[in-house]
Amino acid sequence: MEQTLSIIKPDAVKKNVTGQIISRFEQNDLRIVAMKRIQLSKAEAEGFYYVHKERPFFESLTTFMSEGPIVVMVLEGEDAIAKNRALMGATNPANAESGTIRKDFADDIERNAVHGSDSAESAAFEILYFFSGMEIR
Ligand code: CMP
Repeated sequence: MEQTLSIIKPDAVKKNVTGQIISRFEQNDLRIVAMKRIQLSKAEAEGFYYVHKERPFFESLTTFMSEGPIVVMVLEGEDAIAKNRALMGATNPANAESGTIRKDFADDIERNAVHGSDSAESAAFEILYFFSGMEIR
């Protein structure tokens, strides 16, 4: 069993497709073991994405991620990190395969509907960024 962090980003929350996205996780044997709907401050978005702080898109990305509510979840299952990334599809929805979350719900490379941890190391940091041990059941 493995855990990963998933975020339904402000664009997808605004489109009211939270439930449709969560269904895909459950239909693929990922279990939600923690979940909350919150709005990040700009500083909180910057802290989450600090690994990208030198990238040209950092300012725009963190402004977008703090523009409206998000839904953050801990997903648990076999190969949860890789499975979640497969369900999400490519970062740029223009390159995402049909049937993936980003192909169906994302607008562009920045407003791309969902985030998922890309490694066990990232998952450990990202889960702790949002949840305490007592909130994960
Ligand atoms: P995410 O999986 O949340 O991880 C980092 C995010 O940065 C990524 O999804 C995109 O939303 C965004 N991103 C990555 N590359 C670019 C890019 N070239 N231009 C704009 N945003 C990007």
